[in-house]
Amino acid sequence: MNTTNLTGPMDLSEHLAEVRDDALGDIAAAGDLDALSSVEARVVGRDSAVAAARRSLGSMPAEDRRDAGRLINDVAKELQAAVETRREALEAEARTQAIEADALDVTLDYQTYPIGALHLIHQVIDEVSDIFIGLGYHVAEGPEAELAWYNFDALNTPPDHPGRLESDTMYLDYGMPEDEMLLRAHTSPIQARYMEQHDPPVYIVAPGKAYRNDTIDATHLPVFFQIEGLAVDTNITFSDLKGTLAEFARQFFGPVTKVRMRPHFFPFTEPSAELDVSCFNCDGPGSTCRVCKGVGWLEMLGCGMVDPNVFEAVGYDPNEVTGFAFGMGVERLAQVRHGIESMRTFIENDIRFLQQFPGS
Ligand code: PHE
Repeated sequence: MNTTNLTGPMDLSEHLAEVRDDALGDIAAAGDLDALSSVEARVVGRDSAVAAARRSLGSMPAEDRRDAGRLINDVAKELQAAVETRREALEAEARTQAIEADALDVTLDYQTYPIGALHLIHQVIDEVSDIFIGLGYHVAEGPEAELAWYNFDALNTPPDHPGRLESDTMYLDYGMPEDEMLLRAHTSPIQARYMEQHDPPVYIVAPGKAYRNDTIDATHLPVFFQIEGLAVDTNITFSDLKGTLAEFARQFFGPVTKVRMRPHFFPFTEPSAELDVSCFNCDGPGSTCRVCKGVGWLEMLGCGMVDPNVFEAVGYDPNEVTGFAFGMGVERLAQVRHGIESMRTFIENDIRFLQQFPGS
């Protein structure tokens, strides 16, 4: 190392100038804090040239010592100050790097997750249920795999009714009527199950799936939804049925909607009717309306007064109670209200269709 045998301030000052230049170069070149620490030890530490120069003071002539001492101290201070300055710079650099490494780039594009919605069919089920809840009804449910008894017999359907044929109804298990199983062909069995379990009065709507051996086309699906309605009380009349369905039609299709009833037949209601609603899309019969095909009326649902035989089958006394029932197809409701050409659309799951009904 810089062991010196310096004899006076002139020699010393040259030597120190060299030492200082080298040291300042090393300090400036230190690339990180660790490197700087070892440079510091080398240039101002115990084994440094500066320390050696300080030790050599003792062997100098007394009159030179003072100036030599000052020279050495000046260089030592300058080098120490240079080390500190470099250290601060390196620390600042390290902080900046850490912050940058940790930074969140708020301009980056991010993954968005689209919010889903209920299928239109389920939105309609909720909406219809809400209308009837507003009229004081409860929501009931029943099994989709059903006994033939509830699907047919309890509903006053004779053994030779064509609906019982395999060409209409999907069977799960054949056998005696009491253990014959099928996929329910309508939601009406929920009427019978509910009355068996509850005393009158009864005011229920029962949404659910129904199954029929139908080929898919614009107006038929083999698996579809219905909403059943049942009101049983003392003195329920046909006017109550008509008034209730008229109120439902106004709430669902709009306040100016009119209803009409046409005689029909269902085994479990007597009398029975089909309910039409006035077309909300045109001014009435004779138009070129694409919704009602110019008829002015839209066929909506089946209904009627509960047949006394049904009351007997579930243990109600037909002399004490009367009631009405109705059943509507949910796909049909949705199709009519939104002008949807084909029921196929409901099961195709085309996102462009589904996105048109984001719900509320
Ligand atoms: N269950 C009948 C159908 O599916 C509809 C209906 C229900 C008719 C209740 C009268 C009473 O067509």
